[in-house]
Amino acid sequence: MSMAAAEALPGQGVSLAHKVLKSTGVLWFLVATAGQWIFVYYILAAYGPSTLSGNFAAWDDTGLISGYVENDLVGNLFFASHVFLAVFMTAAATLQLTPPVRKRFPTFHRWTGRSFIVIALILALGGFYMTWGRGVRLSDIGALGVSLNTVLIVSFSLLTLYFAMRRKINIHRRWAMRTFIVVHGVWFFRLSLMGWFVLNQGPNGNTRMLDGPADITISFACYLVPLLILELYQRAADSRQARPKWVMSGVILLAVAATGLGVFAAYMMMWSPHF
Ligand code: HEM
Repeated sequence: MSMAAAEALPGQGVSLAHKVLKSTGVLWFLVATAGQWIFVYYILAAYGPSTLSGNFAAWDDTGLISGYVENDLVGNLFFASHVFLAVFMTAAATLQLTPPVRKRFPTFHRWTGRSFIVIALILALGGFYMTWGRGVRLSDIGALGVSLNTVLIVSFSLLTLYFAMRRKINIHRRWAMRTFIVVHGVWFFRLSLMGWFVLNQGPNGNTRMLDGPADITISFACYLVPLLILELYQRAADSRQARPKWVMSGVILLAVAATGLGVFAAYMMMWSPHF
């Protein structure tokens, strides 16, 4: 073997590992996007007809904690705007991170990006108000989980906007991906809880008030674990060595399986009954 060929080998290995890592990332994004669009479909099917026909009391058919409350105009408006803005935010999030859309339609990307950030802020702060202002929570500890999620959504989305405005596109892209993870915290929560029920053939460490050890862990881990995986994925992608790329490809494949299981479980137990 010539010296040149011997030197080329590690480079080829790294490039193959890099391609595999990126492909697993794309695969996860596709599975997650499918699951997020099923969630969107559920929101429209569960709340669309009742809202359009003025039968607001039917919102509660999905088993909400509070939902529609008679004579609470402000609270009801908050709830309705929350669920319908969730539809726009989820749709915009997918479009923002889809490379062909981003590259071919930069103006569209800028405008959906700005709308996405405004909607994410309204959703997170509106949800925060419902939790603590309207008192819609099962347990304080679970509510702290979603409140920390609010803080991360607000900070990350503002950082994404800040770096876009300063034209620091690489840093902007990193924060956009972190924002994508945290804005889907409540979606991850549903997947994690239902996936946990499937794995354990029922509740295990869960309570009706969602304050059992498994509930508390899921309240925080549902967005912190995906965030950690994203950071490790980025580091492996930046690395010049093949090993971290292979290891992370395996981790992302596990994440694909876990996300697929969570989507299936949430579809079966939470969403499809309202289709
Ligand atoms: C940013 C992404 C968010 C999305 C996509 C989202 C989506 C939803 C949806 C679809 C519902 C209706 C419940 C259901 O049918 O499953 C809901 C309700 C609710 N959300 Fe969010 N949400 C988000 C963020 C938040 C945050 C950050 C909080 C709290 C800090 C929050 C608090 C609430 C509350 C209190 C309700 C009312 C539950 C009830 O009345 O039982 N949401 N959300």
